[in-house]
Order: sequence, then C-alpha cells, then structure tokens
Amino acid sequence: MTAPVPTGVPAVSLRGFHATDVPYVAAIVADALHEHYDPSLYASLSGEWPRGFLVAADDRNVPVGFLLGVNQVEGEARVLMFAVERGRRTQGVGSMLMEAFFERCRDRGFRRVTLEVRVSNATAIRFYTRYRYSVIDLLRSYYSDGENGYHMARDL
Ligand SMILES: CC(C)(COP(=O)(O)OP(=O)(O)OC[C@H]1O[C@@H](n2cnc3c(N)ncnc32)[C@H](O)[C@@H]1OP(=O)(O)O)[C@@H](O)C(=O)NCCC(=O)NCCS
Repeated sequence: MTAPVPTGVPAVSLRGFHATDVPYVAAIVADALHEHYDPSLYASLSGEWPRGFLVAADDRNVPVGFLLGVNQVEGEARVLMFAVERGRRTQGVGSMLMEAFFERCRDRGFRRVTLEVRVSNATAIRFYTRYRYSVIDLLRSYYSDGENGYHMARDL
C-alpha cells in the first residue's frame, strides 16, 4: 500500500458569497486591509451584484480570500475589496479571483475595471500592473489616515 503523495498547496475553489462567510471575510479584511466594517455591509453590497462577490474557499469550504466588486458607473466594475489570507498568498489564489472576476465583468458587458490602492502597497500595485491596470489618477489623502491612493483602471 502506498502513502498519499503530498500535494503541496491545498486545494482552493471559487464560489459565491454566503451570509455565513461574514466572520471569515471580516477577519481577512481586518488583518489585510486594517479596516472594520459593519457586518451587514457585506450582504448589502453582495445584493447589488451577487456574481461580483467572489470567495476562494479551502477544502473545508472556509474562505481564504475574496474579491468584492461593485457596479456604480455604467459599463464599469470597481474592485471595492480584494484580499487573500496572509498564509495563502503567492499561491495563485489572488490570480484565480482576479481572472474569474474579469470573466464575470465581461459576461455583464462591462468595458472597464477600476480600483483604488494605497501608494505604499507595492505588492498589490505590482499584482495589478501584471494584470494590465495602470494609474489614471493620484487620490490625495484618500485614506482615513491621510495616505494618498492611486486610482487604477484597465480595459476589458
Ligand atoms: C494583492 C493580493 C490579494 C494578491 O493575492 P495572492 O494570492 O498573493 O496573489 P497571487 O498568488 O495570484 O500572485 C501574487 C504573486 O505571487 C506569484 N505567485 C503566484 N503563484 C505562485 C506560486 N505557486 N509560486 C510562486 N509565486 C507565485 C505571482 O506571480 C504574483 O507575483 P507578482 O504579483 O509579483 O506578479 C494579496 O497580496 C493580499 O491579500 N494583499 C493584502 C491585501 C491588499 O493589499 N489588497 C489590495 C488592496 S487594493
């Protein structure tokens, strides 16, 4: 009898947001984005465009990352929140989320995706640049602690 071969990176699959995800998503947000939102925010935002809220779940169906996109401008999606649990980064989870999100945007006929990012967030800026986002504006004192942001966009 042979032992199972270790697979290295545990399996992650994409699905939609469920109300039971809130504590997990909120914990990822608190650690990764240093923000605390009212728990009802997630369900209310997901109600507007449910397919724009993607969750990456582990083999126990626990969220390890998510991308919350909204549609506030005609023909455009905006990435409102995007984060992967610290221990699950650089394993391709963020790429899975972003690529699936682009598909969902195209399904809706969107022509452009926008987002905001802290100017100090070199890791995220490099990630977005790899996905052909470019800086379209500098947002002065955009964040509550006074840090500037970049407004970034890419065409679909
Ligand atoms: C930005 C973020 C979501 C990316 O998620 P991620 O799961 O690490 O993304 P990926 O693993 O797909 O890609 C990250 C890097 O790892 C590399 N990578 C992916 N799979 C890899 C693997 N198996 N082995 C080695 N490297 C790998 C990718 O090439 C990528 O490199 P690059 O960004 O320099 O091009 C994540 O860093 C994060 O949660 N950051 C904190 C929250 C945040 O800043 N969010 C954005 C706010 S605007």
